[in-house]
This record gives sequence, C-alpha cells and structure tokens, in this order.
Amino acid sequence: MDAMPDNLTIEKNASETKLLRIGVIGLGVGAQHIPAYKENSNCEVVSLCDIDAAKRTEFAVKYPNMLITFDASQVLNDPTIDVVSIASYDDVHAQQIITALDNDKHVFVEKPLCLHADEVRDIRHALKQRPHLKLSSNLILRRSPRFMRIKQMIEDGSFGELYHLEAQYNYGRLAKITDGWRGEIPYYSVVLGGGVHIIDQLLWMTKQRVVEVAAFGNRICSNNTNFKHDDMVAAILRFENSMTATITANFGCVRPHGHGLEIYGTKATFVNGEPDGFLYTSRDPSDKPQVISDVHPGAAKGDLIASFVDSILDIAEPEVSADEVFDVMSVCLAIDKAKQQNRTIEVEYI
Ligand SMILES: NC(=O)c1ccc[n+]([C@@H]2O[C@H](COP(=O)([O-])OP(=O)(O)OC[C@H]3O[C@@H](n4cnc5c(N)ncnc54)[C@H](O)[C@@H]3O)[C@@H](O)[C@H]2O)c1
Repeated sequence: MDAMPDNLTIEKNASETKLLRIGVIGLGVGAQHIPAYKENSNCEVVSLCDIDAAKRTEFAVKYPNMLITFDASQVLNDPTIDVVSIASYDDVHAQQIITALDNDKHVFVEKPLCLHADEVRDIRHALKQRPHLKLSSNLILRRSPRFMRIKQMIEDGSFGELYHLEAQYNYGRLAKITDGWRGEIPYYSVVLGGGVHIIDQLLWMTKQRVVEVAAFGNRICSNNTNFKHDDMVAAILRFENSMTATITANFGCVRPHGHGLEIYGTKATFVNGEPDGFLYTSRDPSDKPQVISDVHPGAAKGDLIASFVDSILDIAEPEVSADEVFDVMSVCLAIDKAKQQNRTIEVEYI
C-alpha cells in the first residue's frame, strides 16, 4: 500500500504536464528556434510567421503540419498558443512582446528586447500584470564553453579581485547594416544589436552592477551608405565596486565576426584569442600563459530554449531571467544616451 501513493503521484504529474504550443515569428535566426522546441518533449511548434512569401513557401515545404502565416497577430492572438518566440526585426519586438504578454503567452525574444527605454518600461509593466509568465532573451554567448569556464574560474577565486574588463563585439559583416533591414528600420543601435551580447557577458560573469557610463561613436566605415547611425561605439563603464570596463560595438571592422574579452584580476588575467584564449598568472615574461582551448563561441542559436521551457514548467530557474534582460537593456540604453548627450550618464535601472 505504501508504494501506491508515489506511483499515483508520478502518473498524476505526468498527465498534468502541459504540452506547450509554440508559435515562431520571423524565420531568419528564428528558424533556429524551431528545432530546439521540436526536440523538447514538452513542446509542439504549431505556427510559423513571416512577412516574406518566399520564406513562407520554404517553411511550408519543410514543416507541412504547421500553420504558416504572414500576419503576426494570428500567432499573438491565438488563444491555443502558450509560447511565442519572436525573431522579427528589432523595431517590432516591443509591440509583439506586449501583445503576447497581454494575451497570456510566455515570450522568448531575440536580442535586443526592444529599442527604447519607454518600450522596456511598457514590457516590464505588462509582465508585472502577469507574474506567472516567463520572458527571456537569446543572450547566447552565455553558452560559450570557453566563457562558461572563465565565469567558473571567477567564481572559484582564480582571478582574485577583478578590477578591469575589456570586451569587443567585432561584427565583421558591414553589408548586413548597409544593405539589409538594419539600415532600413527607423532606428538601429549597434550597442543594442550586438554590444548587448558582451555587456551581458560582463554582468553575468562578474555579477556586478554598472552605475555609470560614458561613450563615443562614429560612422566612418558606413559613411555614404544607407546606414544612418553610428556603426562604431566605444564606452567606459564604472561598476558599483569601482571595477572598470571598456566595451566596443564595432560593426564596420575588417576582420571576421568575433568577441574580444580581457578579464583583469589581482591574481590572473584572461585574454580571449582566436582560436584559443590565454590565462596569465605571472608578470614574468618567461612564464608561458595557460592555453584555454575550450571551444568558443560553440553555441547554437537555440541552446537557451530548453532552459526557458523548463522555467515555464517550473523545473528550473531561467538561464536568462527577465530581470537580467531588463538590467542589460538598461546599461545599453545608458551607453546610447551617454553617446547622444556627450556626457557621463548614471544607469537608470528600468
Ligand atoms: N541571438 C543572436 O545571436 C542573433 C543573431 C542574429 C540575429 N538576431 C536577432 O534576430 C532578429 C532577426 O534578425 P535576423 O538576423 O534573423 O534577420 P533576418 O532578416 O535574417 O530574418 C528576419 C525574418 O523576420 C521576418 N520578419 C520581420 N519582421 C516581421 C514581422 N513583423 N512579422 C513576421 N515576420 C517578420 C523577415 O521577413 C525575415 O524573414 C533581430 O532582432 C536580430 O537582432 C539575434
């Protein structure tokens, strides 16, 4: 008799486990969300949406059992859909997120969450009305095995006390901003569009809060093109524990896409290189640094989705929480504001 309740509990939980119905909006990088949900036994992808007819035809052939639409509102207003993955252009994220939340759907959104501070506030407000919903964003560098290892080393004290960080987001794909949608939407920010990844890295690795930023930018690389915003931004960050950081969002660089990272602590220094990183534990030039060869970036665009789904099902904490998304957005927006106003800005956490 004693064994019965346990078995019954297991059966009851299994039958109560909800199969989440998923809709994906935007089938560029969003196409890489689909397999991550399909591989998850708790999920069923039911709807795909793209404004591009050629994309709809391509995906109708690939996924004949899914509803395919040009109209995002069909996904956002469908009462049978539980989760929306948003991978449309940056300037429509805010409206799509808020509609999804207001319609009681969990949201996984490509970075950046949105483009403006008032949009962040509106999203935060919509989420607050429905605290049972989960919101996350695809800050995928967190899944870089090399950066995961460095974070672990920071946590176990190998670096001593951190005092300075340097991070570069080297985009290496100038044509994507001069010829694609990034140059066509009314506003684009290289800090929000790319810098967000490495700023998230710094916050996630160090667990420290940025209090103040200064920034400058230019658009020398994209001069005389359709792109009317800065393609290069350099910023200095001051953290509350007095640690400093410099970051660059460098979209015009003549080099392949990559992520520079230097971590300076009182006991060790890490310098990310290509293909390997290096860990220095000595100031003596004759001491060779340790080679850190864990793969980087080594993460697929759908890798954060399993943990996002687990967070919806209360199996695990979200790997990228909504609060963390709001925090990194607040820092990025402060950098853009500091650049626009040509003065140091205190970060206002939204
Ligand atoms: N996490 C990452 O590392 C990463 C990498 C690349 C892009 N992104 C983000 O993903 C988003 C999409 O970028 P991309 O590179 O896939 O662009 P893309 O042009 O390759 O694909 C975007 C797709 O979305 C469709 N689309 C745009 N607006 C739409 C709307 N309102 N409704 C339905 N479909 C719509 C377009 O037709 C296009 O097929 C952007 O926010 C971008 O910043 C994130």
